[in-house]
Amino acid sequence: MASKLMHAVQYNSYGGGASALKHVEAPVPSPKKGEVLLKLEAAALNPVDWKIQKGMLRPFFPRKFPHIPVTDVAGEVVEVGQGVQKFKPGDKVVTFLSHANGGGLAEYTKASENLIVSRPSEVSAAEGAGLPIAGLTAHQCLTESAGIKLDGSGQQKNILITAASGGVGQYAVQLAKLGNTHVTATCGARNIEFVQSLGADEVLDYKTPEGAALTSPSGRKYDVVVHCATGIPWSTFEPNLSTNGKVIDITPSPSAFATFALKKLTFSKKQLVPLFLNVKAENLEYLVKLVKEGKLKTVIDSTYSLSKAEDAWARSMDGHATGKIIVEP
Ligand SMILES: NC(=O)c1ccc[n+]([C@@H]2O[C@H](COP(=O)([O-])OP(=O)(O)OC[C@H]3O[C@@H](n4cnc5c(N)ncnc54)[C@H](OP(=O)(O)O)[C@@H]3O)[C@@H](O)[C@H]2O)c1
Repeated sequence: MASKLMHAVQYNSYGGGASALKHVEAPVPSPKKGEVLLKLEAAALNPVDWKIQKGMLRPFFPRKFPHIPVTDVAGEVVEVGQGVQKFKPGDKVVTFLSHANGGGLAEYTKASENLIVSRPSEVSAAEGAGLPIAGLTAHQCLTESAGIKLDGSGQQKNILITAASGGVGQYAVQLAKLGNTHVTATCGARNIEFVQSLGADEVLDYKTPEGAALTSPSGRKYDVVVHCATGIPWSTFEPNLSTNGKVIDITPSPSAFATFALKKLTFSKKQLVPLFLNVKAENLEYLVKLVKEGKLKTVIDSTYSLSKAEDAWARSMDGHATGKIIVEP
């Protein structure tokens, strides 16, 4: 397999956006110890993919150029490396590849066994590929940072989810509603009905004065904010929070870090919590199971073939996706 060539999409340096993506014939990777080779069926884009290209995570990511980007994939195992126990050729799987190596915009990629989970036939490749970064981030915000129990037990909490129409937000609304929550969500006017259909109890258009102020139409104060949008200052959140309200910020700016430190140092009851995803296979397995059971869905904004990967990239950079952007080899 190592000498075979595949179609891949890569970039050679920082910057350049969609037009810097190059279609190449690259060698099919060989799985090393603990790795499997996947024939890809779907890859899902995340803003971090183009943020890495912009150099926003330099010097850590990518590890080297040329870089085949994208980490969230579904595919079929075609070869296993030494020591791989849990998977065999023919298995359908979902996984998260590393930011350092990427590999998703290609026909084949290699993946580490420990972050791979099985994909049952009830879950399509695209539905599975949508889950890793976006689904796991929503899950981590709600379960680990906010303490929401997704079996519906626990005290009721009022939750605000900003950018509820985006990749993370759409999962956050659905997962939050599995818990004992009242969900207020923000999105653009065109997505209000869509976000209601995900289960949100009340929805604010972020371009109206009430939406910009994040005021709950029913007068609630938020116990938790899952903040998936950007550019909203603490002073806007603060009056809308309950006594112990917490803002979980998944795109923390320098001023958010300053607020985080200040609130900690002053023992404030209201807190800002910067969140960075910690990918865990057991949580990914749980999300795949929810999709299989029909309790969670991956809303797909658009699907592109690998030959049009630059259009998918431009769509993600544009920042107006409703759900996940998928690329299929
Ligand atoms: N910390 C982590 O580990 C982590 C993990 C995942 C994601 N993230 C970050 O989280 C952010 C969201 O990711 P994503 O995948 O959900 O992005 P996305 O899918 O690109 O989000 C696009 C959606 O956001 C909506 N939106 C934009 N600004 C808004 C605002 N001010 N109020 C309400 N809705 C707004 C857009 O609606 P309109 O089209 O109507 O404007 C669009 O539907 C990104 O910055 C990403 O890098 C961080």
